[in-house]
Amino acid sequence: MRHLMNPLDFTVEELDSLFDLANDIEHNMPKYAHTCAGKKLATCFYEPSTRTRLSFEAAMLNLGGSVLGFSDANSSSASKGESVADTIRIISCYADICAIRHPKEGAPLVAAEHSGIPVINAGDGGHQHPTQTLTDLLTIRSLRGHLDHLTIGLCGDLKFGRTVHSLINALSRYEGMRFIFISPDELRIPDYITEMLRDKNIPYEEVIRLEDTLPRLDILYMTRVQRERFFNEEDYIRLKDFYILNKKKLRHAPADMLVLHPLPRVNEISVDVDDDPRAVYFKQAQYGVYVRMALILTLLGLAGKEETKC
Ligand code: CP
Repeated sequence: MRHLMNPLDFTVEELDSLFDLANDIEHNMPKYAHTCAGKKLATCFYEPSTRTRLSFEAAMLNLGGSVLGFSDANSSSASKGESVADTIRIISCYADICAIRHPKEGAPLVAAEHSGIPVINAGDGGHQHPTQTLTDLLTIRSLRGHLDHLTIGLCGDLKFGRTVHSLINALSRYEGMRFIFISPDELRIPDYITEMLRDKNIPYEEVIRLEDTLPRLDILYMTRVQRERFFNEEDYIRLKDFYILNKKKLRHAPADMLVLHPLPRVNEISVDVDDDPRAVYFKQAQYGVYVRMALILTLLGLAGKEETKC
């Protein structure tokens, strides 16, 4: 049985197959309408979510399956002290596959170790968010045509942003990548990431100014300052509007640069950017449904069996 804890759980070749499947789903949705009939997805969210939970649920419903779960730890028996290990043992009796989000780093791994069904990490603390990474990679591959030889700028909260950590890990396996980390000192990328890049001889820079960096980028990955992971509100207020991408600043960027954001956004991208053709963050959220459909099929061993009703 296979789980997804980290984007590196899939080889580059396996990711290619997953993205081919996601693109086929995008263009031939009716073909997949009954592939998961009779199957159930449990979404166990101990932290708030709009995109991840609802796109997982939309994905399973698009595949003809059903969904159950909770969207708040307080409405589950976690509020009475039930452990993640016991919870997943119970969920394994009710569902065929489970997506779990938890504020504690490593909680989905604990779930996977005690589970009778495939478990997907839907975000664990400031650690990893592998299905957001699959979404980001599919967006870049679909809109740029390739995942190698790109200069990517990651901007904002690079310290607490789990989507950033997962994405750098995943992109570091492709040739010719160059990373530019754009953040204030307090929100710098963690040392373990820069050490990994140095070990692999992958070029990176750390800068503070966004405007000067824009002309060199193929991809700009904007992020929100993660209020929920700050220890004090004063620091959050001081840093929250450090970067605001607007139409005027975007004039410095190449005509074919893509602006991605895992969302939700707060102020870091002005709404006047939304109608720029380079702003693809809402399209990115749509790719999140296709890739989660492909992931569910793959983990349930149903990829390539779209004509079969379960
Ligand atoms: N990108 C993302 O994880 O969004 P949600 O927190 O709304 O799921």
